[in-house]
Amino acid sequence: MASNLELKIPNHVAIIMDGNGRWAASRGLPRTEGHRHGTENLRRILRSSAKMGIRILTIYAFSTENWKRPPQEVMMLMRILETVLDREIDELDREGVQIRHIGETEGIAPYLLKKIQQACERTAHNSQLILNVAFNYGGRSEIVHAVRKIVSDGIPVDQIDEELVNRYLYTEGLPDPDLIIRTSGELRVSNFLIWQGAYSEYYATETYWPDFDEDELLVAIESYSRRKRRFGMTDDQAHDELDATL
Ligand code: IPE
Ligand code: IPE
Ligand code: MG
Repeated sequence: MASNLELKIPNHVAIIMDGNGRWAASRGLPRTEGHRHGTENLRRILRSSAKMGIRILTIYAFSTENWKRPPQEVMMLMRILETVLDREIDELDREGVQIRHIGETEGIAPYLLKKIQQACERTAHNSQLILNVAFNYGGRSEIVHAVRKIVSDGIPVDQIDEELVNRYLYTEGLPDPDLIIRTSGELRVSNFLIWQGAYSEYYATETYWPDFDEDELLVAIESYSRRKRRFGMTDDQAHDELDATL
């Protein structure tokens, strides 16, 4: 750890929580145990994030492609979300966490969808930390959903720009992720925030999600703190712009 490094805390962190299955397999356990431990870990990382001053945390919990998994695993992942919502909602609400759902609603069983919507409504007034739960989420399907809505709203062509498209995404009103973390060593996006992540910093670690702890989060943030974000500009320009915002 570099002692003289000035930590820059990203405003919005997004995490591809990957490696639950391999974590379990490496211990001779069923994959579901990996998901269970992964869920426990989320609770820890959520607390650590709030403590560090991260304002928005987006977590990839179930992708539109994850429906292709064996039905039993899919069922288990649905059940895990249900259990987490039931078990954690009081505490999350007390801690000022605002829960939001990003993703398709179609395909989610009505009873579960209702629970998700209730959790979002109940915590809508909270402002300590925004927790975006990407569940039944896919970046491509999000863009298709936005295009359909833009067309069905009859938006004239000359009014369609990036800012308008932003407003039609599930992340409407939120800033883009500053840092996207992927655990388990895979170096791919897997359809996560493909529009919003256009200029996000990426951080990948070999660590499986259930083992990704506060120290690892800090290492990710240290790495982020050392990055030079240029957004297409030269180094000097980017520096001047940063100075102007301080
Ligand atoms: C991430 O862990 C959780 C979900 C995708 C729901 P995986 O289940 O993908 O674990 P691996 O990648 O098979 O190890
Ligand atoms: C991405 O992980 C989705 C989630 C973490 C929910 P996957 O395990 O589904 O990604 P691939 O299939 O390895 O790309
Ligand atoms: Mg995986």
